[in-house]
Amino acid sequence: MRETDDDQEWSRWSREAADRIERTDGTVAPPAGLPESDPAPDLHVWDTWPLRTRSGEIATVDGWQVLISLTAPADVTPGERHDIAEHRYFVSRDGREWTDRGPVFGDDALGTRQWAGSALYDDGELYCFYTAAGDADSEALTYTQRLAVGHGGRVDTSDDELTIEEPWSHEILLEADGEWYETQAQSGEMTYTFRDPWFFEDPETGRTHLLFESNTPPAPDDCGGDADQQAFNGCVGLAVSPSGDPLDWEFRSPIFDSVCVNQEIERPHVVYREGQYYLFVSSHVDTFAPGLAGYDALYGFVADSLEGDYRPLNESGLVVTNPASAPFQAYSWLAVGHGEELLVSGFCNYPEFDGVAIDEIAALSGEEQRQRFAGTLTPTLRVGVDGEETRIHGTLDHWAFPREGEALPPLADDWSLPAGELDPEPGLTRTASRREDGPFW
Ligand code: FRU
Repeated sequence: MRETDDDQEWSRWSREAADRIERTDGTVAPPAGLPESDPAPDLHVWDTWPLRTRSGEIATVDGWQVLISLTAPADVTPGERHDIAEHRYFVSRDGREWTDRGPVFGDDALGTRQWAGSALYDDGELYCFYTAAGDADSEALTYTQRLAVGHGGRVDTSDDELTIEEPWSHEILLEADGEWYETQAQSGEMTYTFRDPWFFEDPETGRTHLLFESNTPPAPDDCGGDADQQAFNGCVGLAVSPSGDPLDWEFRSPIFDSVCVNQEIERPHVVYREGQYYLFVSSHVDTFAPGLAGYDALYGFVADSLEGDYRPLNESGLVVTNPASAPFQAYSWLAVGHGEELLVSGFCNYPEFDGVAIDEIAALSGEEQRQRFAGTLTPTLRVGVDGEETRIHGTLDHWAFPREGEALPPLADDWSLPAGELDPEPGLTRTASRREDGPFW
């Protein structure tokens, strides 16, 4: 554990910045609705990422694109889906129409279920990074999290289809070290995180990295020594591969933390653009530290190098949030660079629910929860970027993942949100809940 907050060597989301979070017309997504045709109506689909090349572009293999998603059968409640999450892949020839091709792995993937990650297609080799969640040795459901990879699987494009073929070799790449990255044993009562490995090769240095979500032990005098605040200790972790080998990783210190601000900064990823590193994370309304109020939203920060110093986008960090009429409409967003723009997609969570706390959903019957949970991808948001400012200025269809270089339709001049969508929902000031009985996201 660090001795004082003077030892702080990486960027932090300041409470001052987080205190400025508010819906603005550049940060609120319009009501999402549901896709006209759902490629997986019998599945809950949530966190999703494209197969990418080493340089971060969406990979095209003989004309095919691939998306990997966390999935579960649609007949489980939305809360239960995390306990049985399975990676499945979808393929498309145009980045618009997707076909479900089934599970990525066989039964030998590590953990009792596989949580979010990223996927690299490198010289014909496939590396599927994931979070090995749970202990296969334990009878009880556990929340152990380790960073893992499946490799050796093969992309086959014969027969005019793309399929991913076994056999896979699975390896644990990193386990929390207890110094920079809290172990589960060190963690307090709140949801523990050490997950979501994201492959990133730095175009300026050529260095190969994994970013991941974690918690970092705070220094004793952080937040004036207030232990309740210090319990909120999210961070973005970093590992490097000195040789560039996607199987060989060493920890580095975090590049960013949200100590005294937020407990969970999820699915970190970086978009490099014009010499700037845009770091994005998703976070929840109920994981902000006492005295702060945010939303379920995509938050972003920008720096001149991967290691920082990161400055909050739009002064607070807020980049994309849900409309006031549906504050849990979407979650777990992913930003990809597309020319001058960012394209941001997430998954549709509870698009019709206008309550202020997700716990209201957890209290409903299983059937009602299932009906309300959308479990498919959102419309893709088009986001303009100007230095430290971003602005949603258009949308594409649900499930749209255009290729690099593909021309997008001209932006409408009259882009605007329906009236009332900026209103803070009542009861915006709230304290974060502690979840002792496992996650309900
Ligand atoms: C975000 C998330 C990820 C995690 C997954 C588990 O939606 O919390 O951090 O890998 O969901 O289902």
